[in-house]
Amino acid sequence: MAQTNDALWGGRFAAGPDDALAALSKSTHFDWRLATYDLAGTRAHLVALQAAGYLDSDEFRILTDACHELEKRVRSGSFLPKPSEEDVHAALERGLMEIAGADLAGKVRAGRSRNDQIATLIRSYLLDAAEVIEAQLLDYLEALATQAEAHVGVAMPGRTHFQHAQPVLLSHHLLAHAWPMVRNLQRLENWRSRAKLSPYGAGALAGNTLGLDPKLVASELGFVGTTENSMDATSSRDVVAEFQFVATLIAVDLSRFAEEIVIWSSYEFDYIKLDDAYSTGSSIMPQKKNPDIAELARGKAGRVIGNLAGLLATMKGLPLSYNRDLQEDKEPVFDSVDTLLLVLPAFTGMVRTLTFNTARLEALAPMGYSLATDVAEWLVKKGVPFRVAHEITGALVKECEGLGIELADASDELLAKVSPLLDGSVREVTSVGAAIAGRDGAGGTALSQVLEQLLAIRKLAPRRDA
Ligand code: ARG
Repeated sequence: MAQTNDALWGGRFAAGPDDALAALSKSTHFDWRLATYDLAGTRAHLVALQAAGYLDSDEFRILTDACHELEKRVRSGSFLPKPSEEDVHAALERGLMEIAGADLAGKVRAGRSRNDQIATLIRSYLLDAAEVIEAQLLDYLEALATQAEAHVGVAMPGRTHFQHAQPVLLSHHLLAHAWPMVRNLQRLENWRSRAKLSPYGAGALAGNTLGLDPKLVASELGFVGTTENSMDATSSRDVVAEFQFVATLIAVDLSRFAEEIVIWSSYEFDYIKLDDAYSTGSSIMPQKKNPDIAELARGKAGRVIGNLAGLLATMKGLPLSYNRDLQEDKEPVFDSVDTLLLVLPAFTGMVRTLTFNTARLEALAPMGYSLATDVAEWLVKKGVPFRVAHEITGALVKECEGLGIELADASDELLAKVSPLLDGSVREVTSVGAAIAGRDGAGGTALSQVLEQLLAIRKLAPRRDA
């Protein structure tokens, strides 16, 4: 049996918690990350306590100063939780008592609960984390835009089912990885409107009888308002889950590009070279240059998906209102934040320093009969129903395949043999340049459209050197 009880709830217990319970219950090893947010919450709470007449101005000043002093000690590392302390709240209450005295510091807990505290802190933390992640995403977008800009006009094979489909501009492909991140930025922005409501004042579940004003606390903390229902405020974690979901999408979107980078850097593809600073060697094979960043980004997406799935599983069976299970929201979401902040700078650096084998991309762009759709659409423009055009072009592909030639190499005789509707003038569309220029509808791969995309991305992520 543990001898002492440093918990915030000793009164009705004859003895302290068993060591096994204390070990299970303890969260300081991860919730200490929230210490400065808890102190900010306490300072805001002091404002509400004073406004409601529970602290005179001297007491308010002493306690506010004590919070600032404690924050300094927390930041410098000179104040740390004791092994016997259950959570960040217990440790910080002791810290306040050490500075302001037990009598005065003992007033601070009035009208609040760890339940409304923790629900507020996690929001404050995630709001800050979102800003850091957003800055990283913009950096990533900048790197993609810079590569897209540097390779304007370079064609490459566009794929569906991983087979050659139609030629596209390399810039178009690169920007196809930018837009999902733009949407993730929009998601974070939209999430913020829900996250920016303060649960403080909800108390344990039902509010408080002391007349403390939740709106005052909210505005002190920089929230735009208060949560609408104290039970919901203390027991819901959808704001955390939603953040986790966006974090997961970010990881998954990176992972998709990562997969391509792994393939593109292979001997057979040889589309790209990775910069030495962003690739690794093998301990046994001296020739190796491995795309570890891409592989780790792909691998860590699995981990972040797990964090989301874990949180949803934690939430699914919980009755209202607060349940201790909710403590399990924190480690996974911290892990997702940490993971993204590890992956994003490395991934961005890798993308920024990629070199493209543009000659090879250009040479491969028309291969694998990737201009067949252009032939079929050329026939359509001549009035041939697409169904028929598709058949004729398919027959031409079959003939070319037999001869081992590409569509552009089909002779006039061969064209005539396949169909009287085909003649040498079809060659005006069997070039990569024509195929790309022709796709100039909104969002298409034609240069004019890609340049519009670039402009739009550049508005969000201006040139780094500009
Ligand atoms: N550590 C808890 C959490 O993360 C907050 C404390 C609430 N504890 C309690 N016994 N009501 O959710």
